[in-house]
Amino acid sequence: MSIEIQHLSRHYGATRAVDGFSLQLDDSVQVLALIGPSGGGKSTLLRLLGGLEVPDSGTIRLDGKELPHSEDGLREFRKRNGFLFQSFNLFPHLSALENIVLPLVEVHGWTRDRARDRAQEVVERFGMSAHLGKMPAELSGGQQQRIALARSMAHEPALLLLDEPTSALDPEMKAEVLDVVEELCQAGQRIILSTHEMGFARSCADEVVFLARGQLVESGKGETLFTSPKTEVVRSFLGKVMKW
Ligand SMILES: Nc1ncnc2c1ncn2[C@@H]1O[C@H](COP(=O)(O)OP(=O)(O)O)[C@@H](O)[C@H]1O
Ligand SMILES: [Mg+2]
Repeated sequence: MSIEIQHLSRHYGATRAVDGFSLQLDDSVQVLALIGPSGGGKSTLLRLLGGLEVPDSGTIRLDGKELPHSEDGLREFRKRNGFLFQSFNLFPHLSALENIVLPLVEVHGWTRDRARDRAQEVVERFGMSAHLGKMPAELSGGQQQRIALARSMAHEPALLLLDEPTSALDPEMKAEVLDVVEELCQAGQRIILSTHEMGFARSCADEVVFLARGQLVESGKGETLFTSPKTEVVRSFLGKVMKW
């Protein structure tokens, strides 16, 4: 995907969540990982990229097109994307199946039959067919995230935005969710994710961006960034998070 971000800023009061962030990526990048310390601006940048928030200044171009500014334009733009957050993604009062079917019908205007067929197809792909009728509370955290992931990509989003999709999970469940994300990467899905899973970022992302204080500190191929970081900030961060 081609991404061109110029001087992007989003402030909350005195907090400069994203602060003059610029980035240019060409078509060869299919999976982009955002890493860096907590509070560095990863979630804010993902919300800006997905059109969930509008910047105070600066521009974002995806595939050469600037993100819309009007409410109507943004609503249409958001529909083309898929989102998954750290936790609390599912409607607690709906079954796993209904969690996937409802947005397809209500947001995307599909018929119920088509939505059910599609829900069954994606859930099977993620190894979750046995759990379709269950309520979220009857599922493990990892199973809930897999259903949420199925929901976020069921409408075949142009771009899938994942904000620390595994950070609320136990190690075993992390692995089962990352397996599914990896499968999506291999199937060609365009993904931008923030993550603290350095091994995953390194193996699956075409490009890794290190963000701190709302700014781009370093970016590059995972292989290069993880093995020979150029800045002390990145070196020290990696030294801490990869120590154990
Ligand atoms: N809705 C908000 N209101 C006020 N401050 C916010 C909001 N969202 C994020 N922030 C602040 O912006 C900074 C960047 O946050 P965030 O984008 O969540 O970083 P990260 O995802 O890297 O942890 C933090 O200081 C955070 O407290
Ligand atoms: Mg965050």
